[in-house]
Amino acid sequence: MYIPVILGSTRRGRQSGKVARFLAAQLTARSVQTEILDLADFNFPIMEERLSKRDDPPPRLREFAAKIAAADALLIVTPEYNSGYPGVLKNALDYLYAEYKRKPVGIATVSAGMFGGLSALSQLRQVVLALGAYPIPASFPVRTVQDNFADDGTPRDPIYEKSADAFLRELLWLTDAVVRQKDAGKQKEKQRELVKA
Ligand SMILES: Cc1cc2nc3c(=O)[nH]c(=O)nc-3n(C[C@H](O)[C@H](O)[C@H](O)COP(=O)(O)O)c2cc1C
Repeated sequence: MYIPVILGSTRRGRQSGKVARFLAAQLTARSVQTEILDLADFNFPIMEERLSKRDDPPPRLREFAAKIAAADALLIVTPEYNSGYPGVLKNALDYLYAEYKRKPVGIATVSAGMFGGLSALSQLRQVVLALGAYPIPASFPVRTVQDNFADDGTPRDPIYEKSADAFLRELLWLTDAVVRQKDAGKQKEKQRELVKA
């Protein structure tokens, strides 16, 4: 299983990277292949058109698309800004479409306040549905991130280990179900081709 973690914060002094590092480590501990896709590294320009309609894509967009296409599911870590998710995340997501089809998406939200980014969560779930992907019902809201996570991604409150377990169990359960269904579909297609030949 390959589940990349999209880090949706590019802010100077950002805190969300701590949560991305924690969740990536948790995926690795569950034998899931993962990596952090840091939107600050990809540094995409404002989207002028989707990748599928461009023959001059910005640098590294094809690389990003290949990783999303290869993924069995996605995990997005997003901060909450003004009760929503950041524009840089929407900008990156909008470049692609087919690559997301029928992929489970776990959303972890990060805030400096007490509510853990729940407004960003509900908005991003709508966007994920529009991309043809499956937002999972479990969530991972991190409140007062500046106090609750050390720089290396270690949570200071053990509650986050527990809630990560429930969150990732749900993500991995749905991913496994979707992967099996896709494999079964491919097998059926192969059999149909054999009958035709
Ligand atoms: C433009 C902006 C708007 C913000 N709006 C909210 C908000 O609506 N609710 C909240 O809890 N925190 C808000 N914050 C604080 C962020 O949640 C905080 O930066 C947090 O550390 C997570 O994001 P980070 O990765 O940018 O650090 C805002 C921060 C910025 C920069």
